[in-house]
Amino acid sequence: MITHPTGGFDNAAKDYRNIEAIPLAAAMGAEIRGVQVNDISDETFAEVEQALFRHKMIFFRDQDITHGDQEAFASRFGPFAEDAYTKGVEGHENVQPVIRQADASDAMIFGSGWHTDSPFLSHPPAISLLYGVDIPPYGGDTQWANSALAYATLSDKMKSIVDGLNVHMSMKNVLATAQQTMKPDDSALGRLAATKDAGPLSEEMARKVIGSYHPLVRTHPKSGERSLYCDRTYAVGFEGMNQEESYPILNFLAEHITQPAFTCRLRWQPGTLTIWDNRLCVHQAFNDYEGFRREMYRCTIAGESPR
Ligand code: SIN
Repeated sequence: MITHPTGGFDNAAKDYRNIEAIPLAAAMGAEIRGVQVNDISDETFAEVEQALFRHKMIFFRDQDITHGDQEAFASRFGPFAEDAYTKGVEGHENVQPVIRQADASDAMIFGSGWHTDSPFLSHPPAISLLYGVDIPPYGGDTQWANSALAYATLSDKMKSIVDGLNVHMSMKNVLATAQQTMKPDDSALGRLAATKDAGPLSEEMARKVIGSYHPLVRTHPKSGERSLYCDRTYAVGFEGMNQEESYPILNFLAEHITQPAFTCRLRWQPGTLTIWDNRLCVHQAFNDYEGFRREMYRCTIAGESPR
């Protein structure tokens, strides 16, 4: 019989002076109203940042912004992150297109599978911003899961086990799937596919496959909140454990973090801008809008070495 975690849910909005936060689900997520992100004071920005850390993912509707506006707003969160997959658009190297054409039918899409952004890097991105331009009439939603709530609801005994572990994050499963299922082209996944039969991996690609070890339980540098840094896509084992020992724990954690009660799901509209904190949540895109085009633009903000 399945039991449900109780007691840890607290996604209520705080009172702010300049913004209004409308919670999206019990576990996480909030719409922020009263803001045009291309015209925002320092005081309002500080409230937006507080709301981001509290709700893990926030979104703004009806934002009419250019690539330059998105880049300028994103840069208020900190320096841009290393770009692990995508290339920026012309003139805005930190605004990465995430576009799927209506006639695409690949089994894999960018952002599919529960993940935190590029955790195989030694300094993974802290924050991601995704802006919707062309949105399918249905499908193409994004889902997030609250990995701080997931840590908080573990038993004390389980916390004492996971507290001491370092998780191995690697790009190897994504690379293998792209090589098996995608056609080589200039898209983010197409560039991975192109490495098949192309001889030894470049030094840069090999570095992402070798990946990084990070604390499985990390502490947010600004809010002090602890969260599980683990996902279904990039977490491949634990330091000092063999595969047979690691996999049951990885499986348990991946299921635990992404249980439906810990999630929220966003229906995009043209002009929606989302921001999420990769240190506090995982997310996934869906491959469910074949026949329709989806055009998004993403910025990622540099993070610290997790601790
Ligand atoms: C991503 O994983 O950054 C992309 C998510 C999406 O396209 O919905």
